[in-house]
Amino acid sequence: MTKWQPQDHYFHRAKKEGFIARSVYKLEEVDRRVRLLKPGQRVLDLGCHPGSWLQYCARVVVKRGLVVGVDTRKISVELPPHVKFIQADVFELSPADLQHFSKEFDVVLSDLAPATTGIRSVDSNRSSILLRQALALAEDLLVPGGHFLGKIFQGSGFDEMVKELKSRFGKVKGIKPRATRKQSKEIFLVAMDKKA
Ligand SMILES: C[S@@+](CC[C@H](N)C(=O)[O-])C[C@H]1O[C@@H](n2cnc3c(N)ncnc32)[C@H](O)[C@@H]1O
Repeated sequence: MTKWQPQDHYFHRAKKEGFIARSVYKLEEVDRRVRLLKPGQRVLDLGCHPGSWLQYCARVVVKRGLVVGVDTRKISVELPPHVKFIQADVFELSPADLQHFSKEFDVVLSDLAPATTGIRSVDSNRSSILLRQALALAEDLLVPGGHFLGKIFQGSGFDEMVKELKSRFGKVKGIKPRATRKQSKEIFLVAMDKKA
């Protein structure tokens, strides 16, 4: 069994590079592999606390872009003015609440994760419900040609989710970034080129 190491290589790297969490390297790897983010884009980040993905996106889209983060937990990390934050539950949020910042978005990210119980079927079911909600918001807010990245815990809803994404996007791929802990069942689904 792999030993749990809270302060591993990614933890120290994040600290050195000024990121609030090691999970930034999951997004960084996906971005490096599929070229998800570009300067000037409008990005929606669902489940953004403590804010490492917001920090990363802010650097990539630069100040002519926009990053909007949503989480039930308040963000305390300092962020530049082109990053906005809404403290809300994604199930209580309507597309109109987000359109207050931008009518549409080029990329929707979801690192939403349930509080885990350790019971694999319960956790994967909860994570697929969160991903489904992220996708519902993306459906209303993404521009045609836009991209979606969502985390899911592998389990019963997985194949169905891949099928659904394939019906709505040109390309769908599963990526397990190196920064994902060995014990974790999480996988990122990247769906590119939203169909009109
Ligand atoms: C893994 S963390 C995100 C880490 C973030 N990407 C980063 O790198 O800093 C998952 C987040 O999802 C949030 N979350 C879970 N359910 C939510 C919900 N229903 N509405 C909003 N946020 C939720 C949690 O509060 C938690 O902060």
